[in-house]
Amino acid sequence: MGDSVTSAADSGTRPRVFLEDMGCQMNRLDSELVLGRLAGAGYERAGTAADADLVLYYTCSVREHAEDKVYGRLGALKRMKQERPELRIGVMGCMAQNHQEELFARAPHLDLVIGTSRFEDVVSLVEEARSGKRVLAVDRKPLSFERDVTARPRRHQAFVSVMRGCNKFCTFCIVPYTQGREQSRPIADVLEEARRLVDDGVVEITLLGQRIDTYGADLRDGTNLAQLLTRLHEEVAGLVRICFLTSHPNHMTDELAAAIADHPRISRYLHLPVQSGSDRMLQRMNRGYSVADYRSAVATLRRRVPDLALATDWIVGFPGETEEEFESSAALLRELEFSGSFVFKYSPREGTRAAEMADDVPRAVKEDRNQRLLALQLGMSAARKQQRIGLELEVLVEGPSKLDESVWSARSAWNEIVCFKAAGDLQGMLRKVRIQRATALTLFGTPQDEQGAAR
Ligand code: SAH
Ligand code: SF4
Ligand code: F3S
Repeated sequence: MGDSVTSAADSGTRPRVFLEDMGCQMNRLDSELVLGRLAGAGYERAGTAADADLVLYYTCSVREHAEDKVYGRLGALKRMKQERPELRIGVMGCMAQNHQEELFARAPHLDLVIGTSRFEDVVSLVEEARSGKRVLAVDRKPLSFERDVTARPRRHQAFVSVMRGCNKFCTFCIVPYTQGREQSRPIADVLEEARRLVDDGVVEITLLGQRIDTYGADLRDGTNLAQLLTRLHEEVAGLVRICFLTSHPNHMTDELAAAIADHPRISRYLHLPVQSGSDRMLQRMNRGYSVADYRSAVATLRRRVPDLALATDWIVGFPGETEEEFESSAALLRELEFSGSFVFKYSPREGTRAAEMADDVPRAVKEDRNQRLLALQLGMSAARKQQRIGLELEVLVEGPSKLDESVWSARSAWNEIVCFKAAGDLQGMLRKVRIQRATALTLFGTPQDEQGAAR
């Protein structure tokens, strides 16, 4: 851009938007939906903030680090805004909902703060900001879930939001405050969206909800996740894989386990955060289950789906966590043979109940516990990967590998990355691959057939 002060918007060409998303899958979906709406209003994507007329940050509040990053980004834009006053800068997502007008106080050059219930109005809100108004849109209203299914970054894969919000209020968690109360979509709406996505080339969908196993409870008509998965499997032809995130141990029913077991196109990978292996910690976290309850949820699942890959989340250094309590997390990790662990150092979030407890585990201890759990998981993951050598796995091809364009990157039903070489455009196709070698994170193999096209 050099020293040019004329934006594309003013010069009559199409306005350009730069968007960076910084949170979970739900946040990624919302930012895709926002880009879809802006594209509909004539916006083009810009590769950098410097090339854009509109800069949007799709933010996360789950840990302090995520928020610090946004303030860092905003600080860096201050000069750009002075040089190009017509530039519009917005914060969207959880941090917008969490901090509201406080964001304007900390970043006076900010133009828009758009909360989690108002992202669907992005086009009119940006128009308002372009007319020179400062825009704060953080009021709550039900979402329409309207969607242009063609606006997505990946041709063969799509996220589908089946519910919003969370009613659980774990004491450490900001999500119920930023996302509001649970709101499920009727099954018919989800089926209709899935059909439209498939018509547009999608073969894999990932259903999203913060506690997806409570899907349907607020509809009060008996709707549940098992029914939704079953109907997607039976009624939406062309769907090769159906994934869903995130599960909560309290709602793990035999009906859900059976729905997974009976339908081969439902993913064999489940994300079931446990957070801690200590009952005292779980209670202080208000997770609503004991270690024994969690074990029994896993047993319910594995009884029906013995080969299920189970991933989990851990928080280390929650207020009051002793070395012994941490050790019980490590022991549970070993016992339940998780296929993956996301480990987080506890970060107090203002407004949550845990923030009133003393954050008494020193930073260095949190870091050390974090590393220890990760190392344990890595060792177990690597061993599991070695066991896959010699097996023939059915994989769904995602695209060329980021590290080597001549190699296809695909995923097994257990959500493992599988790389192999083959000619032709295989994106979105199912292939059988014989596994030849493995690193801690990736499997490598050779394709076994030329059949098995997904569509
Ligand atoms: N809805 C999901 C997870 C939401 S947040 C669930 O119910 O499990 C994703 C993960 O971030 C959580 O599972 C937890 O491990 C972690 N997390 C949430 N709040 C945190 C905090 N204040 N500090 C550290 N980690 C946190
Ligand atoms: Fe947060 Fe707990 Fe809700 Fe998950 S279930 S989003 S951790 S409050
Ligand atoms: Fe997701 Fe972060 Fe919000 S984890 S729901 S973007 S606080």
